[in-house]
Amino acid sequence: MANEQERAYFKRYKEDVETRGKPFHPWAMFHDTVMSLVVVSVIVALACVWYFTSGEEAGESGILGPRYTEEADPGTTSFIPRPDWYFFFLFYLLRIFKWPESVVLGTVGIPTIALILLFALPFMDRRRERRIVRRPVALVGALLVIASMGILTYKGATAEESLASENVELVDEWVQEQGLSEEGEQGATLFAQSGCQSCHTYLGSGSANLGAPDLSDIGASGQSAEELAAYVANPAEFGNQVMPAYASLGEENLMLLGTFLAESTGEGGGE
Ligand code: HEC
Repeated sequence: MANEQERAYFKRYKEDVETRGKPFHPWAMFHDTVMSLVVVSVIVALACVWYFTSGEEAGESGILGPRYTEEADPGTTSFIPRPDWYFFFLFYLLRIFKWPESVVLGTVGIPTIALILLFALPFMDRRRERRIVRRPVALVGALLVIASMGILTYKGATAEESLASENVELVDEWVQEQGLSEEGEQGATLFAQSGCQSCHTYLGSGSANLGAPDLSDIGASGQSAEELAAYVANPAEFGNQVMPAYASLGEENLMLLGTFLAESTGEGGGE
């Protein structure tokens, strides 16, 4: 039955083409050629605007952004990679799916399923109806896809992107384990936000780089909060040429950091 309908439709379509249709050559070809020319011209024009309004200097921005940005620093330990905006939605998916349990689902699974659905669509939806309001499933599906990509892009764009934001969530845990005072807790938050953990590990979080020691039990070394604050302010004075100076945090913050470090006496060191 459906076949008969399809055949009838196809016949009608052929007749339509005969009576009202325009041949591919030259109509469609001309149409495509003009459109391609327009697209290429727009790209060339944008490239010209970008090039001729930007300067030779790094970071000197024109209407469409700078020609060169700052040179890459291969030695950096605090660089936070960000994708271009049109990948924010995928990027945010990565934050929803946690490493390592479900990350394969987020990075490979969902995009693959979406692509397979897209490929399968012409085989699943064989109806002739083209008016979008008569195709509620397709309409709702498309709206949902657009909406979820929009929301994910927005979330990705506004997500506070740093090693810090994840580490700050650990502060409560640290307070518990180390039995930190209120000042120690403020120091812990600073510690989590200041990028210390791109070199130092602390109670299993952060990454060990450039030979920096684990600081979970630094308080057991017998150094006072003042001494530790002074160390963090100017590590070079203590023979540490690797760690950056944090004097710019200000005396008050340094003391909070020092207090936190002095109270960190090791895993299970709390009450
Ligand atoms: C670029 C890497 C790096 C960063 C970022 C860094 N440190 Fe360090 N830190 C080191 C290294 C390397 C050492 C060990 C130096 C040595 O042993 O001579 C060290 C040593 C220390 C020590 C002395 C440890 C001891 O055994 O006495 C303390 C305390 C310390 N860091 C605290 C901090 C704090 C707090 C921050 C953040 C505000 C921070 N560090 C950020 C690399 C870093």
